[in-house]
Amino acid sequence: MATDLVQLSLDGPIATVVLNRAEKLNALNREMLSALERCADELERSQDTRVVLLTGTGKAFCVGADIFEWSDLSPLEMGRRWIRDGHRIFARYARLPQPLIAVLNGYTFGGGLELALAADLRLAAEGVQLSFPEVKLGIIPGWGGTQRLAQLIGPSRAKQMIFSGERLLAQQAEKWGLVNEVVPSDSDKLTQRALALAQQIAANGPVAVQMTKQLIDAGMAANGDAGLVLETLASSLASFTADAQEGVAAFRQRRPPQFSGR
Ligand code: COA
Repeated sequence: MATDLVQLSLDGPIATVVLNRAEKLNALNREMLSALERCADELERSQDTRVVLLTGTGKAFCVGADIFEWSDLSPLEMGRRWIRDGHRIFARYARLPQPLIAVLNGYTFGGGLELALAADLRLAAEGVQLSFPEVKLGIIPGWGGTQRLAQLIGPSRAKQMIFSGERLLAQQAEKWGLVNEVVPSDSDKLTQRALALAQQIAANGPVAVQMTKQLIDAGMAANGDAGLVLETLASSLASFTADAQEGVAAFRQRRPPQFSGR
């Protein structure tokens, strides 16, 4: 199956999902979220697929939520639809029966990093930048970032990334355990490594691989979903502060924001 904005190809045991909105650096709009969900339907049903790769076209993996879409929503729409849709769809990717490998070909920011965090493994090309820039807009990561990042790299480093909004190079992200492997950025090396790893996993007993995925995830989820519920509420509120309006206006006007703390 393929849509314009998200493409799914099934090739024997390996499926590839490609975010395909290169001119907007694969920023996620509502149409892409729906397309991602339709791909998840298909992947969940696919008997043949043993490993799923998720990547982007152009110079970005994904630069996050489409600022021009969410900034026009009302507070209730924000919480009920935008945030909850993202949570549900990203959770479906996290819970795919097959291992999911995020193949980070370029900028991995905000919601793009949250989507990558829903994957089981992350491979990145050397030089790729990863960041949670939400605080620069006066908002907070709202698609699971506050929860999954801290679970993966620990609360202290998660706070450093989220509070500062600074960009981490893939090499540093690897040291922090955010990225499994960094691959030289020469053309096709990342794809070759992703395919080789996918083939290695696909050659193993699929039931054993899928059961171990679920066991590891069940062990990690001992705290339940309370953090995600809080994130939905906080993210909806934070998106309607004067600071969030200023952050979005500054992004639109390509100028530094002047935050007032309100
Ligand atoms: N939402 C919507 N559109 C976005 C976007 C986003 N998150 N990020 C980039 N775009 C668009 C830009 O508006 C631009 O569109 P245009 O060509 O029609 O003007 C296009 O994608 C290319 O982006 P541009 O900023 O010109 O590219 P760049 O290479 O100079 O900078 C980034 C790349 C990633 C540093 C910069 O785009 C950026 O900071 N994006 C915002 C990331 C962010 O804050 N994400 C969290 C969102 S909640």
